Amino acid sequence: MPADRRVGLGIDAQRLERGRKRLFSLVGQLAEAYSRRSGRPYLTKKLATIIDVALAQFAAEEAAMTEAGYAHLASHRAAHGEVADHLTEIAADYRVDARDFIIAEFAEFFRDWLVLHGAAHDAPFLACSGTGANWARCA
Ligand SMILES: [Fe+2]
Repeated sequence: MPADRRVGLGIDAQRLERGRKRLFSLVGQLAEAYSRRSGRPYLTKKLATIIDVALAQFAAEEAAMTEAGYAHLASHRAAHGEVADHLTEIAADYRVDARDFIIAEFAEFFRDWLVLHGAAHDAPFLACSGTGANWARCA
């Protein structure tokens, strides 16, 4: 597809941003629940919710990137897959051995990942996919 036809793709960037904010909020709730020493059932459920929401967010981003013909989709998808696997492993560790530090590790790791991934990978796509954006700079 010629670059000039990709300008202003109309990707729902606001929806994707809302999804990212929801993930930050959930991770904050998890950290707060950890500091309040919430019970294992609550924390286990919160971990599962965060993973479900993260997977839905990753799928929404990847669908938008697929629709846009985004050049960096494969590497972005790989980054999502790696972090999803790691989060799933941490949650599985907690199910086996519900030690508090695992919750703290999950919250800190995922919050940092969201910040770094968002700045380095999500933001460039969103900046290039909104109405009036210059897609040619992103290919
Ligand atoms: Fe992403």
